[in-house]
Amino acid sequence: MLDGTSPLLRDFWYLALPGAALRPGRIGHKRLLGEPLVIGRTMQGEVFALRDVCPHRGVPLHHGRFDGRELACAYHGWRFGPDGRCRAIPSLTDERDFDVGAVKVRAYPCRELQGNIWVYIGAAERDPKSLPPPPAVPGFEAAVPQFSLSRHFPCHADHAAYGLMDPTHAAFVHTSWWWKKQARRLRRKEKHFEPAPLGWRMKRHRLPPESRIYRLLGDEVTTEIAYSLPGLRVEQIEGNRHSAVSLTAITPIDEQATEVHQVFYWTAGWLAPLRPLLKRFAGTFLEQDLEMVRKQQEGLADGAKLLLIEDADTQAQWFARLKQEWLRAAEAGCDFENPLPAKTLRWHS
Ligand code: FES
Ligand SMILES: [Fe+2]
Repeated sequence: MLDGTSPLLRDFWYLALPGAALRPGRIGHKRLLGEPLVIGRTMQGEVFALRDVCPHRGVPLHHGRFDGRELACAYHGWRFGPDGRCRAIPSLTDERDFDVGAVKVRAYPCRELQGNIWVYIGAAERDPKSLPPPPAVPGFEAAVPQFSLSRHFPCHADHAAYGLMDPTHAAFVHTSWWWKKQARRLRRKEKHFEPAPLGWRMKRHRLPPESRIYRLLGDEVTTEIAYSLPGLRVEQIEGNRHSAVSLTAITPIDEQATEVHQVFYWTAGWLAPLRPLLKRFAGTFLEQDLEMVRKQQEGLADGAKLLLIEDADTQAQWFARLKQEWLRAAEAGCDFENPLPAKTLRWHS
């Protein structure tokens, strides 16, 4: 389980793409957990996701034409509604008594929340009404993101997740003239953790004063970071003047590739002109992680094994343990119980 290639988790909402990337009347296609999806937005603004395979003779539906109401397959023009039900088969004559509506392509529950499009990947098809809502960013109920970023990581989702919860790489990887110069003097850190729904939380603590970007939110800036299955990180930063939230969502494309989405919200309206600059900074951060993942893949291809140590890698171990527990509970058909303890971790970074 700790080798970074554990099974991908089904029965969760996954962030598929930013809402702004899909205009009314448009479709896009992508793979989530190995499943081919065509994701669209009707003229009325509703989002939907269907299995990207025509049930007639298999042509991916994204090659077809979407008029904002129905998706017509490119091969023989069978038309499907956003619910996946076939609405018309152009070749059928009146003499042929055929129940067109009985033909169906799998529809995945799909919802837009706070400017993100989430798709529920279930082990089996489920009634959307029986599902919990997609993960919400706290404190920004009706908000749309200030900006979001998505990057393709050529690795298993576990490696992207371990990188996300790794507290000791920043001093070596996230260095730049405007953030922190190359690590010279590491400091001792002590952080308190507690279990949280489907994960754990690094309790609220003050950010060090050298974090210049955070000072935009005020003088006294604190943060709290929650990690949860299937691969979500939510950081809530509070200043005495403003607050901000960043959501990072790890979405497996398949066993070898992952999409990492980062979405930012903040209350400081006057920061809007700085948005392009902040987006560039955040993009640089994410690409530094991506670059390291590429390098790590070289070692993994040569048979590298992971050696996860206390306390620096304890969170990666927690993540692996949670996944294991989730899979065990699902197989046994019982409720998931969070096995994590409250703990204080110490490291140099
Ligand atoms: S393959 Fe799609 S309509 Fe025939
Ligand atoms: Fe990082």
